[in-house]
Amino acid sequence: MVQIKSVGVIGAGQMGTGIAHVVALGGYDVLLHDVSAERLEAGMSLIHHNLTRQVVRGIIDQAAMDAALTRIKPVDELQAIGGTDLAIEAATENEETKKTIFKALGPHLSDKTLLASNTSSISITRLAAATDRPDRFIGLHFMNPAPLMKLVEIIRGIATGPETYETAVQFAQSLGKTTANAEDFPAFIVNRVLVPMINEAIYTLYEGVGTVEAIDTAMRLGANHPMGPLELGDFIGLDTVLSIMNVLYEGLADSKYRPCPLLVKYVEAGWLGRKAGRGFYDYRGEHPIPTR
Ligand SMILES: NC(=O)c1ccc[n+]([C@@H]2O[C@H](COP(=O)([O-])OP(=O)(O)OC[C@H]3O[C@@H](n4cnc5c(N)ncnc54)[C@H](O)[C@@H]3O)[C@@H](O)[C@H]2O)c1
Repeated sequence: MVQIKSVGVIGAGQMGTGIAHVVALGGYDVLLHDVSAERLEAGMSLIHHNLTRQVVRGIIDQAAMDAALTRIKPVDELQAIGGTDLAIEAATENEETKKTIFKALGPHLSDKTLLASNTSSISITRLAAATDRPDRFIGLHFMNPAPLMKLVEIIRGIATGPETYETAVQFAQSLGKTTANAEDFPAFIVNRVLVPMINEAIYTLYEGVGTVEAIDTAMRLGANHPMGPLELGDFIGLDTVLSIMNVLYEGLADSKYRPCPLLVKYVEAGWLGRKAGRGFYDYRGEHPIPTR
């Protein structure tokens, strides 16, 4: 089995920063890269902020936080990731973006490097085929927020080798995570079930069955969900929700997965949820206020 000591994380958004955080706390050296220098800087501050919160809450001690921070290094050049033992891609949920990243990384990869994608829905087999090492490519799907959520969904592409799989499972477990295996079909398990529910909640809003508040209250208290579906859509990012619905719609060719036009409109407006300050709720004030 490959000995993982260093990990590269590509994309310093919500997921990339969460993954870098949990992987560094797990004792690995981390290189974090983003195409945007601004996002990379903001990502490093967010990791600092989130680690501090964990110290304040007594989840980790100051020494663990300091050690984790010394292990994470931001890098402006993608090629620096090529020398790590495991490169985890956590960039925007867009197949072309991800393939372009793997193509650009290819010439800089060392022979030993395993590749993983944190994609929520895109075919691992297709992404792996865009690299020189489909046998050493796997889906490592962390949940949001990665430092807190216990699950890592593991997705093997058609060519993923047994050693890659064993290494990935052991790596996830070393971070204190539980793994669940999903076959490589659109959106795997978690998002195959979860995201159509969020899309249906948006249809419920679109058709006037309930207000934003009524829908979220109903699902929180009526189905015992910790977050309402619209709040959860905002938390995930509405662009990501739309991408996943499109992958389901196109990949399974079934009209039951068609994205709600209201979801499309929010994304077109740039109202992407929490990360943009506005989605089904406006987060710019002291308390979130429904936007419809
Ligand atoms: N948001 C969630 O709840 C969630 C949960 C699990 C998995 N995911 C998956 O994780 C991935 C990232 O999602 P996110 O929520 O962090 O999105 P995000 O929008 O917060 O971050 C995406 C980041 O990728 C960067 N990026 C875009 N193109 C790049 C490139 N060519 N090279 C390097 N960086 C690039 C962007 O600058 C941005 O910082 C997606 O595949 C998504 O489906 C998301």
